[in-house]
Amino acid sequence: MSNPIQPVRGMNDVLPAEITAWQHLEQVARGIFEAYGYQELRVPILERTELFERSIGEFTDIVEKEMYTFEDLGGDSLTLRPEATAGIVRAAISNGLLRGQRHKLWCSGAMFRHERPQKGRYRQFYQLDVEALGFPGPDVDAELIALSARLWRDLRLTGVRLTINSLGTPVSRQIYRQQLVDYLRAHEGALDEDSQRRLNGNPLRILDSKNPEMRSLIEGAPLLSDTLDEESRRHFAALCGALEAMDIAYQVNPRLVRGLDYYSRTVFEWVTDALGAQDAVCSGGRYDGLVAHLGGEPTPAIGFALGVERVVALLQQCGGVPVARAPDIYLVASGERAERAALHLAEQLRDALPGRGVLLNLGGGNFKTQFRRADRSGARLALILGDEELDRGVAAVKPLRHEGGQIDCPLAQLPERIASLL
Ligand code: HAM
Repeated sequence: MSNPIQPVRGMNDVLPAEITAWQHLEQVARGIFEAYGYQELRVPILERTELFERSIGEFTDIVEKEMYTFEDLGGDSLTLRPEATAGIVRAAISNGLLRGQRHKLWCSGAMFRHERPQKGRYRQFYQLDVEALGFPGPDVDAELIALSARLWRDLRLTGVRLTINSLGTPVSRQIYRQQLVDYLRAHEGALDEDSQRRLNGNPLRILDSKNPEMRSLIEGAPLLSDTLDEESRRHFAALCGALEAMDIAYQVNPRLVRGLDYYSRTVFEWVTDALGAQDAVCSGGRYDGLVAHLGGEPTPAIGFALGVERVVALLQQCGGVPVARAPDIYLVASGERAERAALHLAEQLRDALPGRGVLLNLGGGNFKTQFRRADRSGARLALILGDEELDRGVAAVKPLRHEGGQIDCPLAQLPERIASLL
């Protein structure tokens, strides 16, 4: 036997035992997105590398060191999408969706980042992504946050907290950036290696450092909120007011800066203490400049993405995963003629009882083996068809999950009889 091929590090299989939680999240989320007027779109997994360089920013961790980038056979530099926002904005521009129009969109799928894998952090991971294009806010900011709060409620997730901040406009952020760089340069000796590297390219990210030795330095840094322009200040105050009016608890975190360059004004994260170091389950913000930056008409926009693996892990911890659906009927058949007839009978039952799970015993086996399989399948009823039943034009019906004896039922009456028993 040859050696089995190993999976790629940081890329997981989602096995049937876990899929109920994934499907539950997807189904609840889809229902909420649609109820708020968001429409699904699907965008390619591969985009031109330049798209991510221009949108996420050249000096971000993602673009500097985490992208799966390669040259295709035609010599183009392509990248597996590390996130969905850039591709969605590109799609809106490429398809002319933004000419005076507004769009509420959602998208789901795999993202790829060459990060150091650990619990909750993977190289292939899934996001559910929601974007509102053409809405200046702050009403839409508040509604998007309310949408995400409803998602946690409907999923019965507890212990997720909202933190918000405003990054202001590019102009006010530039002023802040200069103040921050001046402050950090004055303390350059205290900067760790990562922060020294970020000082020139992306100093705001230093505020996000998880290194405890950097904490007091960061705490003493000037605050972004002190340089906010008047309009951003009003926008943020209106958002806070709207959240309070909706009874959505939040914490303002003046150090929340996010790891992607396209944000302006509102940024937010839903975090939890239940997942260890990877505490953000859902993050997003406003990106008013991105559409124009990528060559579209200036269009304000905001969105967020939730990390599916992390929300699924929370669902599992909170006991919010519904029980997987078991089949309704397991059809046991023994004897050459009966086995052939059972294939046909199973199809007839599937026609007559749409939506019901009908499992046919496959691969033969004696009655004992077949009943063991029927029991393991979790089915509520077993139907038994042997050559002898076939000759009499009946099948035996036997409840598997509740008391009740086995009864013979004429084949023509099976659908009604089964429906009355289920
Ligand atoms: P992000 O913060 O990079 O933002 O990712 C959003 C969420 O994806 C995170 O909160 C986290 O739950 C999950 N996530 C990120 N990286 C990983 C990973 N390596 N493994 C597992 N889960 C991960 C964005 O991607 C933005 N596009 C969000 C957005 C949409 N902003 C505006 N619109």
